[in-house]
Amino acid sequence: MLTDKHEAAANPGQPKGDPVSRRLSRRALIFFLLALSGLSFLLRNILTLENLSYHTASMLFQPQNSSHPALAQKGPLPPYNNHTICSHLEPTPDEALEDRALLDAIAWPKPPAPTSLNQTSDPVHSLFAILPSKGGRERRVGDQLEALVQMQDFQGRPKRYGGDFLVARLHSPDLGAGVAGTVVDHLNGSYSALFPLLWEGPAQVTITMVHSSEAVAVLQRLREQRSDRFFFQSLFRSGELSETSVCNMCLPHNRPQEPLCNYTDLHTGEPWYCLKPKRLSCDTRINHFKGGYKKDLVTHKEALLFQSRVNIKVVIHASGPDRIDVLPKKIDDLELKNRNIEPGSVKYNPSGYYYKGSWRSFDGTPVRQFDAKSITQCLTGKMINMYGDSTMRQWFEYLRAFVPEFNLRSPAQAGPFMAVDCKHNILLKYRCHGPPLGFSTVRASELRYVANELDRLPGGPNTVVALSLWAHFSPFPVEVYIRRMRHIRRALERLLARGPGTLVVIRSANLRALDKEMSLNHSDWFSLQLDRVLRNMFMGLAVVFVDAWEITLAHHSPHNIHPPPDIIKNTISLILTQVCPAKKS
Ligand SMILES: *[C@@H]1O[C@H](CO)[C@@H](O)[C@H](O)[C@H]1NC(C)=O
Ligand SMILES: *[C@@H]1O[C@H](CO)[C@@H](O)[C@H](O)[C@H]1NC(C)=O
Ligand SMILES: *[C@@H]1O[C@H](CO)[C@@H](O)[C@H](O)[C@H]1NC(C)=O
Ligand SMILES: *[C@@H]1O[C@H](CO)[C@@H](O)[C@H](O)[C@H]1NC(C)=O
Ligand SMILES: *[C@@H]1O[C@H](CO)[C@@H](O)[C@H](O)[C@H]1NC(C)=O
Ligand SMILES: *[C@@H]1O[C@H](CO)[C@@H](O)[C@H](O)[C@H]1NC(C)=O
Repeated sequence: MLTDKHEAAANPGQPKGDPVSRRLSRRALIFFLLALSGLSFLLRNILTLENLSYHTASMLFQPQNSSHPALAQKGPLPPYNNHTICSHLEPTPDEALEDRALLDAIAWPKPPAPTSLNQTSDPVHSLFAILPSKGGRERRVGDQLEALVQMQDFQGRPKRYGGDFLVARLHSPDLGAGVAGTVVDHLNGSYSALFPLLWEGPAQVTITMVHSSEAVAVLQRLREQRSDRFFFQSLFRSGELSETSVCNMCLPHNRPQEPLCNYTDLHTGEPWYCLKPKRLSCDTRINHFKGGYKKDLVTHKEALLFQSRVNIKVVIHASGPDRIDVLPKKIDDLELKNRNIEPGSVKYNPSGYYYKGSWRSFDGTPVRQFDAKSITQCLTGKMINMYGDSTMRQWFEYLRAFVPEFNLRSPAQAGPFMAVDCKHNILLKYRCHGPPLGFSTVRASELRYVANELDRLPGGPNTVVALSLWAHFSPFPVEVYIRRMRHIRRALERLLARGPGTLVVIRSANLRALDKEMSLNHSDWFSLQLDRVLRNMFMGLAVVFVDAWEITLAHHSPHNIHPPPDIIKNTISLILTQVCPAKKS
């Protein structure tokens, strides 16, 4: 599916050269407009796919043996293969077609094997230049800016292949303005970063190499072959007796003598297993917690590709000026609008940008600002159900300053949490998603799959559902994420059909701080791939999409898995604007 161009970074779901991507980009536009206007018509888009071969999802997991005596006795586990207890989880032919299309949409160019670090991409030797505008015209709001990046290796030789993971931002600290750029990989060592010019005044280009193409290849290998690098445990207890056992999504199949506890969800079929404790029964499982990470899965040579301040998230310098001055737009608004949303002609469609420190949608409509009173007013009569990882919990934590929390005595990371305002009939709930989940402790009784929770909601105009699932899936093969999201999508379709008027908000992945260890398990590259899958899978469904990727990329603060309060505030305002749109006068 890779053709002449491969779009690399900032803006998942952007136009690309091939027909599938063009179709996807058109759909991206529809999705974007839906998200913008909050129109609640159902535009379920069936994936129309052609000539796609059958793909077998292989989810290969193997438990860590350190804490399980039975395993320790038997020595190291066999190498990765597809003989796991999950091998029965074959997708249906339709699902396999969708899997194939989604995997094609996130295909990433593989570099030739480098012989030494010297031949890999070096952000310090690499340079970018802002291209002159067409005909030397002055630059105006509504125009597009292009910067050309030439990647070079550690000896200053130009790179001749693509696959580097770059992100780009156009910003103005003075104006509190920022927008994410789109990076297009020309597959020959050069990249274009494209930016819309959305404000008048100064604008500065920042381009960052997150990982070299060679580093991405290592991540790809780890994801496909060592998805066991993250493992889990459960405590089992009955009376005085307690035991800890290793758990994961799929355990190896080659030990039929090894008894297992099968916690596969009967409703969704989502697999989950623990090695059976020696003396206790499977129904004495008390909790679920993060077991840990396997170490030393990369060679010494590979480790050199993951050095903080050398080749992880290092800024690329400009060969000339890195900033421009933007003049007010001249052409009339209508023409600008048509130019920007005409399918085919559109080069970028960021979901929004910062101006004076506040997030605005792409068309410039400011997001409504809310104070304590207007938050209560907006939430009156509403039931807000939040599901997902800690990036969703941050929304709950923000809102509980305005709605009194009912103490459920839950573990601090995993919840569940609830806040109630009886006077205004407001109910806020947060619940974490089902495993894989790397929280410190989750009670076994609270391990629930989002799809099942959604099936228990009646829905309707007073119901808001907010979802954010991504960070805990990054060490696993993409097929695991696709399967989970497919179950959730089906549940959302049922919910929207049963309870028309339900507002569904889906939050995308965001960028995070990376060092070597974090990169190997949870790199932004993994998140970006899941994010693209998410966008494609929910396109056409009447849901509001919160583009946390761009909201964090466009912002001036350092990347953080848990974005700082200013970003949360902007995000909550964006959502509340959807819940309570400004009255049209
Ligand atoms: C598993 O157990 C064997 C035998 O005790 C040990 O040699 C091996 O290092 C262990 N593997 C891991 C990943 O801990
Ligand atoms: C299992 O793995 C082997 C070798 O890696 C491969 O030849 C075989 O086709 C795989 N089977 C399935 C069902 O994917
Ligand atoms: C676990 O249970 C599920 C659902 O009952 C079943 O489909 C699956 O085959 C079981 N797994 C094993 C290894 O027995
Ligand atoms: C890498 O480059 C340095 C300096 O240019 C050189 O001294 C070194 O031998 C090179 N290493 C390899 C493995 O080529
Ligand atoms: C790389 O490809 C782009 C787009 O096709 C082209 O404009 C550029 O000149 C090429 N660069 C090199 C060094 O070949
Ligand atoms: C994953 O992260 C942990 C700590 O965050 C680290 O010890 C481990 O080495 C990492 N995984 C890999 C594959 O390196």
